Amino acid sequence: MEIKNIFVVGAGQMGNGIAQVSAQSGWNTVLYDINMDLVNKGLAVIEGNLKRNVSKGRMTEDEKEAIMKRLTPSVNLEDAAQADLVIEAIIENFDIKKKVFQQLDQITPDHAILATNTSSLPITQIAAVTKRPEKVIGMHFMNPVPVMKLVEIIRGLATSDEVYQIIEEASIKMGKTPVWCKDVPGFVSNRVLQVMINEALWELYEGVAPPENIDNIMKLGMNHPMGPLALADLIGLDTVLSILNVLYTGYGDPKYRPSPLLKQYVQAGWLGRKTGRGIYNYRS
Ligand code: CAA
Repeated sequence: MEIKNIFVVGAGQMGNGIAQVSAQSGWNTVLYDINMDLVNKGLAVIEGNLKRNVSKGRMTEDEKEAIMKRLTPSVNLEDAAQADLVIEAIIENFDIKKKVFQQLDQITPDHAILATNTSSLPITQIAAVTKRPEKVIGMHFMNPVPVMKLVEIIRGLATSDEVYQIIEEASIKMGKTPVWCKDVPGFVSNRVLQVMINEALWELYEGVAPPENIDNIMKLGMNHPMGPLALADLIGLDTVLSILNVLYTGYGDPKYRPSPLLKQYVQAGWLGRKTGRGIYNYRS
C-alpha cells in the first residue's frame, strides 16, 4: 500500500508538528481540528517554523510555499475519506479518542491505517473500538516534533507486520528514526521519563531545592538539554498528570503516584508554556 494522503487529527502542538513533517516529506496533508480558529493557529505555527528555515538558508521561499500548498485545512472529519494514513493527535482521553476512532473507521477507506500519537493510552484498547485492529498502531512523536528525531512505534496486540513496516518506512521518510516497543503502560519513553519528572516535582513539593536548582543539577550534571521541570512545562502539566495516572493505574505500583503539587497546578490551570504559567512563569 502506497501512502499518498495523510490526515492529521488535532492541530495542537503535536498535531501541527506532525502535519509539518508530513507536508515537508512530500505528502498531501490535511490538518483537521474542531474549529477553523484551532486549524489556523496550527497552520500559523507551521508557517512560522518554515519562515525560520528560509531565513536560516535551509529552505528556499519556493520550497516553503510548496510545503504550505500541500497542507489543507479541515473542520470536517468526513475529509478523511481520501486518507491512506490517519495520525491522531488529540487530547489524552480514552472516551474522546474512542469516538474519533469509531468515526474514522466508518469514514476512511478499508486500506487506511489509523495511527495514534497517544503518549500512554493502550494501543490495543484503541484498536479494539475499530473493525480494523490490525491497521491500528502507535506512532509516538516527541515534542517539538520538527526537531526531535524519535518516533516510538507501538504495536498493539493485533497490529500486522505489514502495517508496522509501512509506518516504519513513513517515519524514515519524515526524517525520523523509528524505534519499536510493545504496548505496555507508558511504553518505553514515558515509563522512564515521567518517573524522573514526577520525582523532580516531589523534590519541589518537599522544598529540597528551588525549581532552577533542580533543573540546573539535571542539565549540568546529566547533560540533559533541559531540566525535568522545564520539560514538564514544555510537555504540559495536564499531559504529565494524565500519563502518570495511566502508569499508576496500569501497574498498580505506588512508585508512579503523582506529586500533589502537580495535581494542584493542573487544578489551577497552570499547565505550562501553553497557558503562560506552569512551574515557571512565561508571561513576563
Ligand atoms: N518547533 C520547532 N522548532 C523548534 C521548537 C518548536 N517548538 N523549539 C525549538 N525549536 C528549534 C529552534 O528553532 C532551534 O532551531 P535552530 O537551531 O535551527 O535555530 C532549535 O530547535 C534549538 O532551539 P533553541 O536554540 O531555542 O533551544 P535549545 O537548544 O535549548 O533546544 C529544545 C530546544 C529542542 C526543545 C531542547 O531544549 C530539547 O531537546 N529539549 C528536550 C525536549 C524533549 O525531551 N522532548 C521530548 C518530550 S517527551 C514527549 O514529547 C513525549 C511525550 O509523550 C510526553
